[in-house]
Amino acid sequence: GKQPGKRLRQPIVVVLGHVDHGKTTLLDKIRGTAVTAKEPGLITQHVGASVVPASVIERLAEPLKKIIPFKLIIPGLLFIDTPGHELFSNLRRRGGSVADFAILVVDINDGFQPQTYESIEILRQRRVPFVVAANKIDKIPGWKPHPDTPFIISYRQQAKWVQEELEKKLWDNVIAKLYELGFQAERFDRVKDFTRTVAVVPISAKTGEGIAELLAVLAGLAQRYLQHRLRFAEGPARGVILELREQPGLGTTADVIIYDGVLKRGDLIVTGGLEGPIITRVRALLMPKPLQEIRIAKRELEPVGEVYAAAGVRVVAPELEKAVAGAPLYVATSEEEAKKLAERVRQEIEALRIKTEAEGVIVKADTLGSLEAMVEALRRRGIPIRYADVGPVAKRDVIEAVASKEINKFYAVILAFNVKTLPEAEEEAKKHEIPVFRHNVIYQLLEDFEKWYREQTE
Ligand code: GTP
Ligand code: MG
Repeated sequence: GKQPGKRLRQPIVVVLGHVDHGKTTLLDKIRGTAVTAKEPGLITQHVGASVVPASVIERLAEPLKKIIPFKLIIPGLLFIDTPGHELFSNLRRRGGSVADFAILVVDINDGFQPQTYESIEILRQRRVPFVVAANKIDKIPGWKPHPDTPFIISYRQQAKWVQEELEKKLWDNVIAKLYELGFQAERFDRVKDFTRTVAVVPISAKTGEGIAELLAVLAGLAQRYLQHRLRFAEGPARGVILELREQPGLGTTADVIIYDGVLKRGDLIVTGGLEGPIITRVRALLMPKPLQEIRIAKRELEPVGEVYAAAGVRVVAPELEKAVAGAPLYVATSEEEAKKLAERVRQEIEALRIKTEAEGVIVKADTLGSLEAMVEALRRRGIPIRYADVGPVAKRDVIEAVASKEINKFYAVILAFNVKTLPEAEEEAKKHEIPVFRHNVIYQLLEDFEKWYREQTE
């Protein structure tokens, strides 16, 4: 039987890093390797995520039994890919993240890049523990690939100079960079205290080398340090909206990550929008159809009656067109509870939208998650904010900037994260000489602004 609070759910593991460093290839490899290991059908696809069950992880980590002994008590790992940039910020949860753990993918040859810094900044903000996958070791000059072999075993079979080349890149491009940012880091097999040191696992998502260690380290760390977070309660679901999507015939649907409890068709749910909280009922829950082969790109969705945490599911419900990505989603057990939850959601969302009369920059972002990440990044840099909200850059934002100019002209700017500028706002900004900084990497957006600020104030 299932005793609430005793059963553990899958840790939610988010994969992030710079463009092209190999996030998707890594997840494909994990899924693909599992299939080659004759475990088809066991990898369950979710909306926006996939679950690798414990049996598969144990099997893949088999060759390491002597090196890393562990018995899995977690039922598996739920992986979330973050194509582009926005999604990770949306995995928000008051005071933290829905992600229990992260894999930061860094190309060992290319080293730290803008989105690597950005990823670390958000991981830090949300206090998400992470391991680094130093990817593409197969591209190190002289490397002789040993497909689907643990890193340690393949490493031993490389020429001395190739090993040295790897160590050098690992240090220069990854470990030293982490130190610069204030993290202690070490190759995973040299880590003595995993609570203080970031483990770096050299891998090739292409050849599969090091995947065994990556999974073993992840699973080991998650169940050792995160057990309290992973206790599953068989109660009403709690989750977060990752993305909103128009779906023909269904209207606006929400891709939701459930991190606790059970979500059922017909449940009364509470979520949030920019015009206020939303109380509605689940009309349908959609999950990818299970298939034998692994190519999962455009898998058809089919209705299910309920989903258990941890899960990624598409929710169909009226009024979701008013919801905002990054908003929490709760199941209420009564109308009365729904009202209480709605008030909580309202406060949570309002706390992220800033409106002061004082000096500061204007911030516009595409989702609640990216808005929160922007606001926190600005605060840490000591840059004041006059006004911050979700949505495209509109005329009223320019008017706010003009008002800000009267107090401090160096803050009379608009920082637009991943949003459009409406034509009339464009005109108005030109007329009043209000710079509009745009980027889809927060780190880069702030760099651009700070560079301009230095030039202006010099
Ligand atoms: P975005 O989703 O665009 O941010 O990129 P990504 O991080 O998901 O990268 P993706 O997995 O799409 O890989 C980018 C390119 O790098 C592809 O051409 C991959 O085949 C290649 N690649 C990924 N991992 C490896 C690796 O370990 N070795 C080699 N040689 N190539 C790799
Ligand atoms: Mg990708």
